[in-house]
Amino acid sequence: MTVSLDQLRRCSVAVDLGAARTRVYLKNTGLVVDEPSVAAVDCHTGSLVAVGETAERMIGRTPDHIRVVRPIASGIVVDVEMAQRMLRHLIGDKLSKAWRRKPIMRAAVCVPHGSEPMAQRAAVETLTGLGARRVELVDTLIAAAVGCGLPVEYPEATMIVVCGAATTQIAVLSLGAIVAAETIPVGGEVIDRAVIQHLRNQHALMLPSQAVRPLHRMLETTATGQGPSSIEVHGMDAASALARSVRVDTESVRLAIRTPLNSVLDGIRAVLRRCPPDLVADLADRGITLAGGSALLPGLDTMLRTTTGMPLVVADSPGNCAVRGLGAMVEGKARPMALESVQSIG
Ligand SMILES: Nc1ncnc2c1ncn2[C@@H]1O[C@H](COP(=O)(O)OP(=O)(O)OP(=O)(O)O)[C@@H](O)[C@H]1O
Ligand SMILES: [Mg+2]
Repeated sequence: MTVSLDQLRRCSVAVDLGAARTRVYLKNTGLVVDEPSVAAVDCHTGSLVAVGETAERMIGRTPDHIRVVRPIASGIVVDVEMAQRMLRHLIGDKLSKAWRRKPIMRAAVCVPHGSEPMAQRAAVETLTGLGARRVELVDTLIAAAVGCGLPVEYPEATMIVVCGAATTQIAVLSLGAIVAAETIPVGGEVIDRAVIQHLRNQHALMLPSQAVRPLHRMLETTATGQGPSSIEVHGMDAASALARSVRVDTESVRLAIRTPLNSVLDGIRAVLRRCPPDLVADLADRGITLAGGSALLPGLDTMLRTTTGMPLVVADSPGNCAVRGLGAMVEGKARPMALESVQSIG
């Protein structure tokens, strides 16, 4: 079912449930939640111990009776009840105030491109459990393109690559609709896992997941030739379990992440191949807009620019593009267009 921007304008809250981060935009207020999609639960009492940033800091550091969970995977709510509890805590009383003002609350939620009806239903259930009477589903690619300020309603091609934590979604849009799109199960998480696995295989070092970020700087060296050629990392020796440091060189990390990065490139090529030549010609000028939190991965933009030979810009606050686009839609600030990929489930 197709809904118009009029229906989205009636929503009072916009939500992006990401594998890594949950973002909530409240109409007339702005972004009120931008926190990790993580909850920590006490297994003895079943009560929530922490959510968001606090819960994320607990990963790998909890006693046996505390379980740290991620209720959203690949942009899909896999544990509806936990997602509701997490959202309720993250939002606090902000939503209930909005809800009191407007008792028949409508919510807009973005869902990954091509998501299954079951996944869409889980997103709807999560929001209805929080008091929404009606939930409008918007394709993440459309929301992100609007959030990046792309002129999607014109008869000209625009290309967006949303590189999130669990997935990379790629689309060419024209006249407010998706012409060709692809979702690849590769994002920041897969890239981080490849680096962790490499250190384990090559150096017998177990790296805490939160220690991967400094290694990202090395990727910049491989893409731009600037930055450190090697970096010292601290972890746990896989055999002795003692703390140990190793010096890791740039080239080995580049090789470790070559496979996931090639998948992103293949996805871009597959989408371009399915587009009519006129639209691809537009893109030679206009280029690619890179969004999603992993767009901040140092050197990713340079690597994609070099390998595709197309101009590429990284969106402002790339992780927030989708929720920003949804926000513009609920505020009635998105330019008029036929949103083919918007669905409404009531
Ligand atoms: N400065 C940075 N450098 C490298 N990676 C980053 C940086 N900031 C965020 N990321 C990565 O971006 C990812 C989070 O991006 P984003 O917030 O778009 O994900 P998400 O929307 O929760 O995921 P998805 O859309 O796949 O469900 C994480 O994997 C994180 O490691
Ligand atoms: Mg996302």
